[in-house]
Amino acid sequence: MSTPSHNASDPLAFVPDRVSLYEVSPRDGLQNESATVPLSGKVRLIDALVAAGLERIEITSFVSPKWIPQLADADELTKTLRERAMPPVTLSALCPNSKGLERAKKANIKEIAVFVSASETHNKKNINKTIDESLAAFEQTIGPAREAGMRVRGYVSTVWGCPYEGDILPERSIAIAKKLFDMGCYQISFGDTIGAGTPKRTREIIKRALGVLPLSAIAMHMHDTRGTALANIVVGLELGIRHFDAAVGGLGGCPYAPGAAGNVATEDLVYMLHGMGIGTGIDLERLVEAARAAESIVGRALPGKVHRAGIRSLRA
Ligand code: HMG
Ligand code: MG
Repeated sequence: MSTPSHNASDPLAFVPDRVSLYEVSPRDGLQNESATVPLSGKVRLIDALVAAGLERIEITSFVSPKWIPQLADADELTKTLRERAMPPVTLSALCPNSKGLERAKKANIKEIAVFVSASETHNKKNINKTIDESLAAFEQTIGPAREAGMRVRGYVSTVWGCPYEGDILPERSIAIAKKLFDMGCYQISFGDTIGAGTPKRTREIIKRALGVLPLSAIAMHMHDTRGTALANIVVGLELGIRHFDAAVGGLGGCPYAPGAAGNVATEDLVYMLHGMGIGTGIDLERLVEAARAAESIVGRALPGKVHRAGIRSLRA
């Protein structure tokens, strides 16, 4: 990847030439579907994502099945995937506590993701703890996971706004992100959980984050509730960010954040990135097939645009 350097006359001149995408549809997407997708549908979705060339996929959550019944088959799903021949893809899973870590270890998962909100109210509703209690509990998760040879990613949610508390001060989110990084998370994904972000605010948040964390440790997780996810991602690219979360078809949402709609659609993001000359390693045609498969798996039309419009629309 090229090193970004600033060029005031052409902001896009310093975007990276390649970025890494982290696919969250099997977890962030399916956790928010009103109907639970059967295990065979989850495997079909993951197979389609792998076939499209996605190399980092968050496949499920080792959370309480009472809280997220849609992902209650996490242990069985990981076992099923482990028994199949798969290309070298990093499969990760959300993990809230030491009980989740034990399940992840049994499942032989090599990467977990811990999560905490920058908003006290959302954190309490989502994981039934204060932010400080969550960070303290991560002592039993992040270190032991690393000792067991796992990589640990961290999420900070509601960075661009909370459905209960409104605006969140960027310094609050960034202080939490720094703690997660210092505790051993290799990367922190800044979440716009309810898709409230706009480019000016994004520039402020990401610039501040760059003052505290290494560039390679910052990822953006943009829900597209208000149609601003791609605009915010372009701002991230201009600041050199190279790691973006996305969900095929625009699946996604947090059951404990009312009003949160899907993530930026992976196919829309890849279409834009390739058009900007930024490599992803992803086959867009196969990704469009994956988005269409996702629609058939969840049984509804999904909001992503490129899988409906097609990659090109050439008319004689
Ligand atoms: P709690 O009820 O406070 O848990 O929930 P507890 O520790 O008191 O335990 C209660 C029961 O749950 C016990 O069982 C535990 O064993 C069990 P019982 O004795 O009653 O039979 N339990 C578990 N079972 C399975 N796996 C576990 C586990 N832990 C406890 N890991 C808890 C606390 C954290 C478990 C719960 O609140 C929870 O699971 N929350 C998850 C919520 C969630 O997954 N939200 C969506 C993901 S976050 C998101 O979408 C945002 C993100 O995308 C970024 C963004 O968009 O910004 C990441
Ligand atoms: Mg999310």
